Amino acid sequence: MSMNKEKDFGTPASSSTQTVSLEIDGFQVIAPVGTSVMRAAASIGIDIPKLCATDSVEPFGSCRLCVVEIKGGRGMPASCTTPVAEGMVVTTQNKRLADVRRGVMELYISDHPLDCLTCAANGDCELQDMAGAVGLREVRYNPAGENHLQSVKDESNPYFTFDPSKCIVCSRCVRACEETQGTFALTIDGRGFDSKVSPSQNQPFMDSECVSCGACVQACPTATLMEKSVIDHGVPEHAVVTTCAYCGVGCSFRAEMKGNQVIRMVPNKDGKANHGHSCVKGRFAFGYATHKDRITKPMIRKSIKDHWQEVSWEEAINYAASELKRIQEKHGKDAIGGITSSRCTNEETYLVQKLIRAGFGNNNVDTCARVCHSPTGYGLKQTFGESSGTQNFDSVMKADVIMVIGANPTDGHPVFGSQMKKRLRQGAKLIVVDPREIDLVKNSPHVKADFHLKLKPSTNVALINAIGHVVVTENLVDEAFVNSRCDVESFNKWRNFIADKRHAPEAAESITGVPAADLRAAARLYASAQNGAIYYGLGVTEHSQGSTMVIGIANLAMATGNLGREGVGVNPLRGQNNVQGSCDMGSFPHEYPGYRHVSDKATRELFEQNWGVKLQPEPGLRIPNMFDAASDGSFLGLYVEGEDIAQSDPDIQHVHHALRSMECVIVQDLFLNETAKFAHVFLPGSSFLEKNGTFTNAERRISPVRKVMPALAGYEDWEVTQMLANAMSYPMDYKHPSEIMDEIARLTPSFSGVSYEKIDKLGSIQWPCTEDTPEGTPTMHEQAFMRDNGKGLFMLTEFITSQEKVTQKFPLILTTGRILSQYNVGAQTRRTDNNAWHAEDLLEIHPHDAEDRGINNQDWVGIKSRAGETVLRAKLSERVQPGVIYTTFHFPESGANVITTDNSD
Ligand code: SF4
Ligand code: SF4
Ligand code: SF4
Ligand code: FES
Repeated sequence: MSMNKEKDFGTPASSSTQTVSLEIDGFQVIAPVGTSVMRAAASIGIDIPKLCATDSVEPFGSCRLCVVEIKGGRGMPASCTTPVAEGMVVTTQNKRLADVRRGVMELYISDHPLDCLTCAANGDCELQDMAGAVGLREVRYNPAGENHLQSVKDESNPYFTFDPSKCIVCSRCVRACEETQGTFALTIDGRGFDSKVSPSQNQPFMDSECVSCGACVQACPTATLMEKSVIDHGVPEHAVVTTCAYCGVGCSFRAEMKGNQVIRMVPNKDGKANHGHSCVKGRFAFGYATHKDRITKPMIRKSIKDHWQEVSWEEAINYAASELKRIQEKHGKDAIGGITSSRCTNEETYLVQKLIRAGFGNNNVDTCARVCHSPTGYGLKQTFGESSGTQNFDSVMKADVIMVIGANPTDGHPVFGSQMKKRLRQGAKLIVVDPREIDLVKNSPHVKADFHLKLKPSTNVALINAIGHVVVTENLVDEAFVNSRCDVESFNKWRNFIADKRHAPEAAESITGVPAADLRAAARLYASAQNGAIYYGLGVTEHSQGSTMVIGIANLAMATGNLGREGVGVNPLRGQNNVQGSCDMGSFPHEYPGYRHVSDKATRELFEQNWGVKLQPEPGLRIPNMFDAASDGSFLGLYVEGEDIAQSDPDIQHVHHALRSMECVIVQDLFLNETAKFAHVFLPGSSFLEKNGTFTNAERRISPVRKVMPALAGYEDWEVTQMLANAMSYPMDYKHPSEIMDEIARLTPSFSGVSYEKIDKLGSIQWPCTEDTPEGTPTMHEQAFMRDNGKGLFMLTEFITSQEKVTQKFPLILTTGRILSQYNVGAQTRRTDNNAWHAEDLLEIHPHDAEDRGINNQDWVGIKSRAGETVLRAKLSERVQPGVIYTTFHFPESGANVITTDNSD
């Protein structure tokens, strides 16, 4: 086909640093030891015909299409399973080889429907390509003989079809499901002629273990496993490389297009975060971008009781600006502010905070990322000197012991979850710290946690202190690392603190509920690992002692010397796609881009000079302060870009009251979300497919977001902010987001080496990217910590009992989380076929608690907290422990946030 496809080298690359030299068809080739003959040939442009091999999975050697001759060797070995050797002389093409290949193809084709012209894969089928490549012209077998042409299609998956009549039993799909995804949903059932691909126990895909990642679809060389979008619309004709807008893994994709229509999203093999893998959201759930609910016309209304009125962009922007100005004139400069989102691009977020600081003249800018980021930002900045994770994802492949705390990677960060599972299958040990039994504990094939420390909610700090206690009192400290790399005085203080008996596992047991013996054993396992790596998530940060816990984790990693190289580190798994980036870009009230405090005179002067205005030296309002001030009548205007604060913020009733009290709420979003119910101006947003920019993932990786279709409402989000700035009489005149990035690079030391040109050249860049590290920094703190004196700082972490105590009136603790198929408040995924997997939020409750209350599976149950009440359907599950209930918050109807309280860190 005409579209430039990514080259398939047939087998995975070898990681060996040693090379051998060989001759292929008369050409000299140098290849790393362990490379297949097939891959070595492909590297010099000789593409040996193949069917069962593809470079995303290990070779299998079943089709025999790839045979070659090797001088001095016997027979015709398969080039996909034959490794290169020094001095080898290979022939890939002669009459004998051609005859064998034609024979192989003839066998395949004789049992294959000959409907190429009307087949959905026409032009995108390797079987068709190979028939051409081997010069097959006729098929001598009797098409009326025994064949599989009548096999029934499985259409159960909403996104792809399985048509067994076209299957050549190459097992690429089976290997992709095992090796790439780690789900093991597919097997080859039966033998010989009867063998066929079967999901789980010969079930339809939707009833099987399949999680719809699509790896098998991508690996399939025929039309057997095929995206329904390709069947419906035909094979794509051009592709644009961009980045997934869902989670913090930040997978790189090729948006494969027909004109302005996305036909399919194919994960990019060159993507450094995902290496050609994806999950069901990124690959399939892009339909929301063109959903009929998209609002594409600006709208205004005087009062939230009025109906919306569609107006021109000019009128909407002018109205918004005049209202904001009016409020400022009457109530003062500080009576307005704005909120950005971790779903926005870096450039958009940068521009919003610039508009607020320079255009509104105050620092009233915040982001919901604060909820999940602040503890990480603060904790890691204090101890290590930088507010971010320390590793790249690939680092996990060198970890020997992995500790996962309050994170659920297989659901929340699926592609990284798959990579982690791969490492675990290779033998790395696993410690899971979670109140709930996540899939990694024992529900993933060939993966099992060595320890599951099933702690009571809100006792994280007691647990991490107890682990620290074991490290210190059992002589497991890496003294050399501590002495050379850390602030020794702070370490000694910490050592004394943590060695106290009150932190012993035996004392912690009554608080955490974790048996002391398990905790001791887990602590020893982590501390004595060659490479111990910690990954944590919202179960750590969305807690009242979040920062203390992050510091506790940092202390532990320093004390055991698990920092500054591959395979180790402290890694927050960010929830939304651009949590890292939105924090980097200065979306907090107290910080300029690059985490520099607004009170710092030199930084402020730098921005004042560049932005041409005087800037406030005091931090502005945080989101909760904005709401409080709104309820008090002193904060009356709000610009919200890309965030549904009326749904996702804890303690929703207070938020609703605050929003109702404001005089001008401006919402910029794709859909009329919950917040828009309180808005006076609605500015249509643009989806990630409709704009240029960058996202920064959990590894600090800045990746390109590229416009693949025109903005439905006419403008990209950054253009809308720019129009609002100009209407507010603060001039902005960017022609392209690359100019915004140039400004970010100019004003932010850790971004000083970043440019669109470089991102395009390298594919992505991990900050810090400076003169010293022009290609970015995969591993942080290698030689020294980023703190001013270069030394890691230990800090004391006293455990404080949570205020949200269990009482007779409120005997259960609610925890929340996410699942694979849905995303955050669901605004996007609910507008796709992902609902097939999860159409409502369920309340997981332990059978004991359910029995006490007479609750059966699927019953509707009312739950009530100090903050509010709601109704959810019950799911009895032993994944939660007695006393704890669990739900997701993907559906506004269920309103799980109605009942969470606003206790903050
Ligand atoms: S979609 Fe993914 S999980 Fe499902 S069978 Fe294919 S590879 Fe396995
Ligand atoms: S479904 Fe596709 S990948 Fe799987 S065995 Fe059949 S042809 Fe091969
Ligand atoms: S893992 Fe995250 S970034 Fe990757 S495809 Fe899935 S949702 Fe997108
Ligand atoms: S491609 Fe080598 S045996 Fe199939």
